[in-house]
Parts: sequence; structure tokens; C-alpha cells
Amino acid sequence: MAEGIAHPASELAEELLDPALYADDPFPLYDQLRSTAPVAWCASRGFWALTRHADVSAVSVDPERFRSGAGILVDEIGHSYDSPPTMMHTDPPAHTRYRRLVQPSFKPTAVRPLDAPIRAMAASLLDALPVGDAVDVVPQLSVPYPLQVICELLGTDPALWPTFYEWSEAAIPGNREMTPEERGAIQLEMWEHLVGLAAERRSSPQDDVVSQLALARIDGEELSEAELAMFLIQLLVAGNETTRNLISGGLVALAEHPDQLRRLVEDPALIPHAVEELLRWTSPVVSFLRTATRDTEISGTPIAAGDPVLMVYAAANRDPEVFGPSAGTLDVGRDPNPHLGLGFGTHFCLGAPLARLEARIMLEELLARFRSIELAGDVVRGPSSIIAGVTSAPLLLRR
Ligand code: HEM
Repeated sequence: MAEGIAHPASELAEELLDPALYADDPFPLYDQLRSTAPVAWCASRGFWALTRHADVSAVSVDPERFRSGAGILVDEIGHSYDSPPTMMHTDPPAHTRYRRLVQPSFKPTAVRPLDAPIRAMAASLLDALPVGDAVDVVPQLSVPYPLQVICELLGTDPALWPTFYEWSEAAIPGNREMTPEERGAIQLEMWEHLVGLAAERRSSPQDDVVSQLALARIDGEELSEAELAMFLIQLLVAGNETTRNLISGGLVALAEHPDQLRRLVEDPALIPHAVEELLRWTSPVVSFLRTATRDTEISGTPIAAGDPVLMVYAAANRDPEVFGPSAGTLDVGRDPNPHLGLGFGTHFCLGAPLARLEARIMLEELLARFRSIELAGDVVRGPSSIIAGVTSAPLLLRR
């Protein structure tokens, strides 16, 4: 915070740090912050929390004023990196060059051919579910599905998905109890596998993302091993937990709102709208961070150069200023739906077309088999302040 500018510390912003909040229901706190302290200073960790849609959007589109290179998570405040761990940690012009390189592999026309293999994966997982018995859809459906898709996307053996699961879990701090040595060893294994895969594709290219990256050149130079690892690890990690929790959280939301499920069963043409609404409703990525590059302001609140600002997407996604009086209501037909569940602006989710395709196919295949989804036990939510995780979701699916 700038010297000489006194900002009252917000007790409410401190509550954002409490893991118990996320295992329970954080939305009442988001509503309170948005209406009473939309730009709130969290003194203990030193960041501003933004909960209004307008403020989160304004920061997202302005990397010159709010950069990503100083970290995108609260736990990264004060860290610095020799080389960026992900593309999300870069700013223009480097970010623009990286993004241009990978964007073609992820545009809607590029992911459309994946429809058939993804549909086959969804169908096989759904056909293996017990009918009329309670099933925890997290391990049975939501965990394997995006991992199998990523294997397909990277052109690796789909049977490798359990290994990818272990690697991805180790890449996210706080996900698993493990010593730094254990985490380091798993990360090295992942690094070696993915960089090795890229080396293989460099000598015998195939029609997949790894080959495209392995052969790509920036200013005439091949990507370094560190850059290749940066991309490949990010694709593995970014597309995994996010999609997993959209599916788990989305199915729980439909079980909790039978009227909305009925609308979808009766009118499957609503499914693409439902995907957007479930992205808004579940907000699988709770928040990401930026750092002010100069003294500035957000909605009249002075922000000093170097101040971190946390964009709480999940709060912005229920902002009545944008979503009206029904902001707190699930509406599978909502249109327009300018949610920020996939981010906004410069770093807007690269995998958005794939995530949307996966979610649409899962809903289409599920509703072709089951017309009723009921809660069959307690839903367990994870304590992460970054990913809105569902760790267990016992559901009863009926035809
Ligand atoms: C429901 C699923 C998903 C959600 C909710 C989600 C959410 C997000 C969000 C909020 C951002 C913005 C990051 C920022 O502004 O700093 C982002 C960026 C990104 N996402 Fe996704 N994502 C999902 C699926 C995927 C998939 C399937 C992939 C790829 C396989 C992917 C790859 C990426 C990448 C590479 C970025 C960084 C883009 C950049 O820095 O320009 N995501 N995602």
C-alpha cells in the first residue's frame, strides 16, 4: 500500500483466507463484500480483494496497469521466478508471442474433431455407472473424464490417465499431503516425461499439440526445454481440476435444482446455455491475482504500485449489477450470460472451447441416459481458495 494512504483493513477480506469458508458456503461472504467493501484490503497477506464484476473485468483487460508476472496466486505474493512457471505468469509482449503459438491448437475449429473421441469417453464412463444405486460421481466420472481428454489432446496413451492424475495433483500446492522432496520427485518425473515426449515428436511429428509445440519457433528459435515444459505442464494442470469441478459441481447444482434439470431434459437445445450458467454458478476457478505496476485506483480506491489485487471471479459471477435480481438463482436458459468463469481479457482461458465441448458432451450423453439426478448423501467440498473443489458427490441417477 502507498505510504501515507491509510486504508481501513477489512475484516471481511481476512475471512477469504479461511479454508473452512470454501468447505462450506462462501457466497454469503462474497455478497457482503460486494455490497459493503467491493475493494477490500486484506492486511495480514497484503492484497486488495475485488468482488464486483466491473472491477474484475477492468483489471483483467489491463496488463499494463495490472501484471501477472509477479504471481497469480495469494501464495505467490513476494515470490519471483527465473523463468515463468506458466503462460499465465507472463505479460505482453512475451505473453502475446506465447499465446499466438498455442492459440491455433485450441480454437473451436481445432477442437471440433475431438467431438467423437470425447463422446466415446463420456459414453463409456456413463455406461459403467450403476443405475438406481448411489454413486460418487467424482472418482467415477469427473476425475477420469478430463484426464482422458488431455491424454487424447497430447497424443499420449489414454491408459496413462492415472499417472497424469498423480502428476497434476502434485503440481498444485496444498492438494495433497506430501513432503517437498516427494513433490519435487513427482514433478521431475512429469517434467521428464513431457519434455521426452516433445523430443520424440520433434524427430517423428504427429498431428497433435505436442508436435505443434515441439516444432514451433519464436523468432526462428525452437522452444527451450523449460518453455516446452511450461506449456505442457500447464495444459495438463489447467484443463484437469477446472473441468473436473465444473462437472462435479454442475451435477450437484442440477440435483439441487430439479426444476432446472427438468428444463434441460425437456429441451436439450438449452444445454449450451446450461454450460455457461454452470460455469457462472460453480466458478471452478475462484480467483486469480494481479499486481499493480504503478500508483492507480480501482473504482475510486487508491492502489499503490506493487499492491497485489485478487480478482474473486466467483463473487463477480453473482453480481446483481450485471446479472440482475436473479444473480443468485440458477437459470439454465440465462442469456446473455457475461460470466467471468473462464477469466476475461488478456489471459482469457485458452482451453475455453475444449472445456465447453467437454461439458456440453457430458450433459448431452448424461441426459440421453438419465432423466433424474438426486443427492444421495453429503456433498464434500474442498478447502481450496483457488479451485472450488468437490471431493465427493454421491448421486442417484435414474433413467
Ligand atoms: C471448466 C474448465 C476451465 C475453467 C473454469 C478455466 C478457467 C480459466 C481462467 C479463469 C483462466 C484465466 C487466467 C488468468 O486470467 O490469469 C484460464 C486461463 C487458461 N486456461 Fe483455462 N479453464 C478451464 C479449462 C481449461 C482447459 C481444458 C485448458 C487446456 C487444456 C485450459 C488452459 C488454460 C490456459 C493455458 C490458460 C492461460 C491463458 C493465458 O495465460 O493466456 N483451461 N482458465
